[in-house]
Amino acid sequence: MTGLSYRELTTADVPQISSLHLMSLQEGLLHALEDKYTYLFYEIGFKSKNCFGVGALNEKNELIGVAITTKNIRDLHKKLLLNPSFVWGLVKKINKIWKLYPAWGSKMEVKQEFILFFVNQRYRNLYCALELMKFMEEKVKEKGFSEYSLEVNENNKVANLLYQRFGFKETNRVGPKENRRIFYKKNIL
Ligand SMILES: CC(C)(COP(=O)(O)OP(=O)(O)OC[C@H]1O[C@@H](n2cnc3c(N)ncnc32)[C@H](O)[C@@H]1OP(=O)(O)O)[C@@H](O)C(=O)NCCC(=O)NCCS
Repeated sequence: MTGLSYRELTTADVPQISSLHLMSLQEGLLHALEDKYTYLFYEIGFKSKNCFGVGALNEKNELIGVAITTKNIRDLHKKLLLNPSFVWGLVKKINKIWKLYPAWGSKMEVKQEFILFFVNQRYRNLYCALELMKFMEEKVKEKGFSEYSLEVNENNKVANLLYQRFGFKETNRVGPKENRRIFYKKNIL
């Protein structure tokens, strides 16, 4: 795609990644926990090398799209639960957690989870998301993984179509009708 370039994300991108996350997803646990905890989530993820991903940059070198995967979502959850600041953020919302994030604690079939996917509004419908997914899948293969998974809100029609088009197959659905999450898995061998 003209004008856009792609590169691997690093810990230095965490501030931009956190704001992109909060801008793109107005629902879910991290959104409810506020910006400080979203930052912490990605800081811990990238510093521990559990998170990796690809970014799309415009001519001014600004990140306008990202795709991020974890090597092991369960290890990342464990690390977060050992972080007192993050746990304090969860405690403050404990009464609402199931409502905010009905999939919390659900058993994922695959440890490698695609966790954030976003393209800036101004750059949508230009196949940037499909490009990011292709680059992301190359990275997943390079790391030696044969499959990866993701979950998304059932009401997010665009994302669901995109994932299905890219070959992700639904494995199950979790949560009440108004806030249901769909789990997908893709084999990449
Ligand atoms: C989902 C998202 C990343 C798609 O980004 P994008 O760069 O506009 O997507 P692309 O241009 O690569 O679209 C590729 C395919 O996705 C589907 N798609 C994208 N936008 C669509 C739309 N508005 N309506 C229907 N299908 C759409 C189509 O299958 C499209 O291919 P086609 O036009 O040949 O049918 C973007 O809409 C976004 O950032 N949304 C907010 C964050 C989010 O919901 N992330 C996913 C959940 S974690």
